[in-house]
Amino acid sequence: MNVMTSSPEAVTLSDKGLHVALTTGSSYFNYHWLRDNCPSSFDATTRERSFDIFHLEQAPRAEAARMERDVLIIDWAGEDHVTRMPVSWLEAYAQGRRRPDPADLPRRAWYGDHYADVARFTHAELLSDKARAKDWLEALIVEGISVVTGMPDSDEALTRLVNVMGQVRPTFFGDYFDVRTHINPTNTAYTAAALELHTDTPAEEHAPGVQFLHMRANTVEGGRNLFGDGVAAANDFRNMDPEGFRLLSTIDVPFYCEHDTYDMRSYQRVIELDQHGEVSGLTISQHMLDLIDLPQDLLDAYYPAFCRFGKLLQDDRYIMRFTLQAGECIVFDNHRIVHGRAAYSATSGNRYLRGCYADRAEMRSSYRALVSEGRFKA
Ligand SMILES: [Fe+2]
Repeated sequence: MNVMTSSPEAVTLSDKGLHVALTTGSSYFNYHWLRDNCPSSFDATTRERSFDIFHLEQAPRAEAARMERDVLIIDWAGEDHVTRMPVSWLEAYAQGRRRPDPADLPRRAWYGDHYADVARFTHAELLSDKARAKDWLEALIVEGISVVTGMPDSDEALTRLVNVMGQVRPTFFGDYFDVRTHINPTNTAYTAAALELHTDTPAEEHAPGVQFLHMRANTVEGGRNLFGDGVAAANDFRNMDPEGFRLLSTIDVPFYCEHDTYDMRSYQRVIELDQHGEVSGLTISQHMLDLIDLPQDLLDAYYPAFCRFGKLLQDDRYIMRFTLQAGECIVFDNHRIVHGRAAYSATSGNRYLRGCYADRAEMRSSYRALVSEGRFKA
């Protein structure tokens, strides 16, 4: 877009900033912002800001400014520096709105009948085809779940899959976890008992964002996998029980994970909202919910709402039930997708699940790099 005129009259200087005539109307820009974001402030090689505004001796102020075609030219007072600011940058920031984010995609809620439509990819194609990798990350952002098939039966196969989106993100119990029956279990997952629907490690300050479960062997009777979309359930809860939704999305409750050498604690909201006020997911885990330390009279309202939501979440309409086969890896958003497992018979065969996590921010970063130009790419 072009400015309305190419003349000094298009710019009006004031004490702390200037007004410039854009095609969208007159817009105000603060001098600190203009000086700090002068295109010369950024190093083309590192793509980082090389200018340090803290080193200016006095607050930046324009001596003179004018428009020349699509560039705002500013002569700075008390400084031997001229800024040439493209109008496209001014237009992008004139409204004070967040920079558009290609990874900020609307979520698509799914229900218990979704299994046949779950996005599926092969291990080989994700490692070799960037277009398929982009589709995979997009499915995880939009639906929060995917199945990767054709996984080689090795530890390395899982690591290489994670590396398509980022690094393995350790938790306080290590980089990877192996789920099979243990003699002295420290966790319900390491028994053959049923696992209620939950999100993982809620006691961490920042629970891991993306979970990988690689089924290496599965010949036992029972142990069907359960997966549900927390966004679908919480959106329905918002419509049918606005007050319950308000309580669960605004009040922090305590989670814990404690054994001989650790005592992890955090406070989380059961229903999480994003920057738009939309449901982004859940934090829920009956086996890691601490004694709720809220005022007891508040619990008169909170606990019934918590139970109403917990019952809704278990409703068949939300839950996919299937058996993850050896050679498959299910990848899902740990802040959105609740997962569980039916009990199984530990003596009926072999069941070995190896898992780990990755970071959601790193997943979005990889997605942006695949689909957009960024600010610095030529
Ligand atoms: Fe889990």
